[in-house]
Amino acid sequence: MITNPQLRGDYTRAAPDYSVEQDWAAYTREDHALFRRLVERQSRLVARYACPEWFEAVSALDAGREIPKFDDINRGLARATGWRIVAVPGLIPDGPFFTHLANRRFPVTVWLRKPEEFDYIVEPDVFHDFFGHVPLLFDPVYADHLAEYGKGGLKAMRLDAITMLSRLYWYTIEFGLMKTADGVRAYGAGLLSSGGELAYCVDDPKPHRRPFELERILRTEYRIDRYQDSYFVIESFEQLMRDTAPDFTPIYARLKHLGPFLPDA
Ligand code: PHE
Ligand code: CO
Repeated sequence: MITNPQLRGDYTRAAPDYSVEQDWAAYTREDHALFRRLVERQSRLVARYACPEWFEAVSALDAGREIPKFDDINRGLARATGWRIVAVPGLIPDGPFFTHLANRRFPVTVWLRKPEEFDYIVEPDVFHDFFGHVPLLFDPVYADHLAEYGKGGLKAMRLDAITMLSRLYWYTIEFGLMKTADGVRAYGAGLLSSGGELAYCVDDPKPHRRPFELERILRTEYRIDRYQDSYFVIESFEQLMRDTAPDFTPIYARLKHLGPFLPDA
């Protein structure tokens, strides 16, 4: 059980796999209204900056009026890709996290940020998890890739390579960019749920935008407290799937002897 006082969720009622009841009735009208305002603000940006796969899924979800009931979402999600959402109190340890992903369960934080955190929040909340991550679980290739990532996470734990694998998650699932016919677009959840970084990552001339390169990413450190200095651009989810399919065991072994790259290198 997590006893880290820095985490603000209530872990006392969590099951051994860290899941909890969503307890939808406990959300207040203010929570729902804040969720709606977050969706509205973000919706003005996503048409221009989100990748088409995400945009297509979110349009079909029609879930912006209030905090969604996870059970409702799960019916459609199971049909689409065999994934489902499980409610969790917040961040959970690597082992249970990877186990959920490997079994096509995506942990979604139950609580919503406070109004004063409208623009910025340190821990992921239900808005980030739901708006950023859940739509892409409807895309079959992305969905398969994320389950493979979960299995790869369990393996990386055994190989003491979590630091390297976490960089891959960071630069793809959280902050990934994709090339499209209309230019570069975001598919990373940390971008899709961000009021400021979503336009920055596509339009601003400052950050590096490099083509996806597995070993470079595994070696590139990242900052969690500011906009990214570097983004990596995939051609498609098929490319992401293909380029992460090889066994990472020999890659980890080789890269361990090489130093990391700074975030802005
Ligand atoms: N192929 C990786 C391994 O052998 C697992 C993985 C798949 C990691 C997909 C990330 C994404 O460890
Ligand atoms: Co996230």
